[in-house]
Amino acid sequence: MTIRQRDSTSQGRCAFEVELAEIEAQGLLRKTKLIDGAIGPRVSLDGRETVLLCTNDYLGLANHPSVKQAAREALEKYGAGAGASRLVSGTLPPHAKLEAALARFKGTEAALVFGSGYLANLGIVSALETQGDVIYSDELNHASIVDACRLSRATTKVFRHADTDALEAMLANDLAYGRRLIATDGIFSMDGDIAPLPKLAALAAEYDCCLMVDDAHATGVIGPGGKGTAAHFGLGGSIDIQMGTLSKALGSYGAFVAGSRDLVDFLVNRARSFIFTTALPPASAAAAFEALNIIEREPERSERLWQNASLLKDGLVSGGFDAGASETFIIPVIIGDARQCVRMAEALLEEGVFAQAIRPPSVPEGTSRLRVVPTSEHLPSDIGFAIEAFKRAGKRCGIV
Ligand SMILES: Cc1ncc(COP(=O)(O)O)c(C=O)c1O
Repeated sequence: MTIRQRDSTSQGRCAFEVELAEIEAQGLLRKTKLIDGAIGPRVSLDGRETVLLCTNDYLGLANHPSVKQAAREALEKYGAGAGASRLVSGTLPPHAKLEAALARFKGTEAALVFGSGYLANLGIVSALETQGDVIYSDELNHASIVDACRLSRATTKVFRHADTDALEAMLANDLAYGRRLIATDGIFSMDGDIAPLPKLAALAAEYDCCLMVDDAHATGVIGPGGKGTAAHFGLGGSIDIQMGTLSKALGSYGAFVAGSRDLVDFLVNRARSFIFTTALPPASAAAAFEALNIIEREPERSERLWQNASLLKDGLVSGGFDAGASETFIIPVIIGDARQCVRMAEALLEEGVFAQAIRPPSVPEGTSRLRVVPTSEHLPSDIGFAIEAFKRAGKRCGIV
C-alpha cells in the first residue's frame, strides 16, 4: 500500500500518525529546538548554556551592533515589509543599494536580490532551462538546486560528486539539447569540500554550457575579501552565474545572483520566484549591505573562522572521528547510522554542545553525520570544550 493510499483510507485524508510513526521508526523524525535567546557562539537551551556548533552565521554578523542598527534605520524609514513584488510596486532604495554593492563585491556587471537562496535557485534554473534543455547537476548539490531542476522540466543528468571526468563523458555525448547548464555548489553544504571550479569552467567553455555556482556557504568567507569560490580560484567574472545567500555569513536573510547585465534583465523577466513574490524586507537588505561593509573592513573575522575550523577539525580527527572530505569550516563528523547519529547528538547536548544530526534525505543513506561548524566568534576555550565533549560523548555512544 502506498503512503497516499493509506492517507485516504485507513487514516483519513488529513491524518499523519502512520507516516510519522514510520519516519520515527527509521530514526529520521525531525524536531526543532527552542533556543532561549539570540544566536551566538553559546546559546541557552532549556535554561542551560551550550556551545553552538550548527549555525551558518559564520561571522557572527546576525547580532553585530551596526548590522542591527542598519536594519533598525531601514525599518523606521521604509517599514516592515516591501509591500509587493518589485515589478508591481517598485524597488526600494535598500534593494538598489544592495544590488550595486553586490555587483561591485563580485566584480560583475549586475546583481539581483531574491527572497531566499531556495527561491533564487528555483528562479534562476527554471528561467534558464526548459523542456529540450539539459542540466548537469553534481549529486551532492543542495536540495534547492534539485528541486529547481525538477521544476524546470529540462532533462537533468546527475554526475558523481566532483567527478569532472564523468561530467565530461556526459557532455561529449549530449549534443542534441538546447541550452546546457552545469550547476554546482561552491562549498558543499553538508560535506564542506570545494567544487572543482577551474575544471568545471574549462568544460563549460569547451562544451558551450552555462556554469552556475551556488555560493550560499562561500559568500563572505572564502576567496580574497570573501568574494566566493570563483575568486578563490582566480576565476572572477568568468563564471556565468554566481548565486549567493545573504542568510549565512552575511547574517541577514535573502539571496542574490551576480552576473552580466543581460542575465539580470532576463531573470527580472523570466524568474518566477522573483516576479511572483513579495520583495525582500528592506531591513534585511540594509542589514546585508552593512554586513558586506564589515566583511570588507574586517578580514580578521574570516581568518578567525578558518583558525577555529582547523583547531576543531584537528581535535576531532585526533580524537578518532571521521571528518569526511572537509576542506573548509563545514566539518561533517560522519557517524553512518541515523539512529546512532541522533544518539550522538543527544549525548553531545548532555555534554553542553549543540551540533545537529543530519540524516537522509539531506545526505545519502548510511552517511548520517553531525554537521559541525564553528564561527569566528567562538573562543579557543569553546573549541577545546567542544573537542573534549565530543570525545566523552563518542565514548559513551561507542563511536570512538
Ligand atoms: C548550498 C545551498 N544553497 C541554497 C540554500 C538555500 O538558502 P536559503 O536558506 O537562503 O533559502 C542553502 C541553505 O542552506 C544551501 O546550503
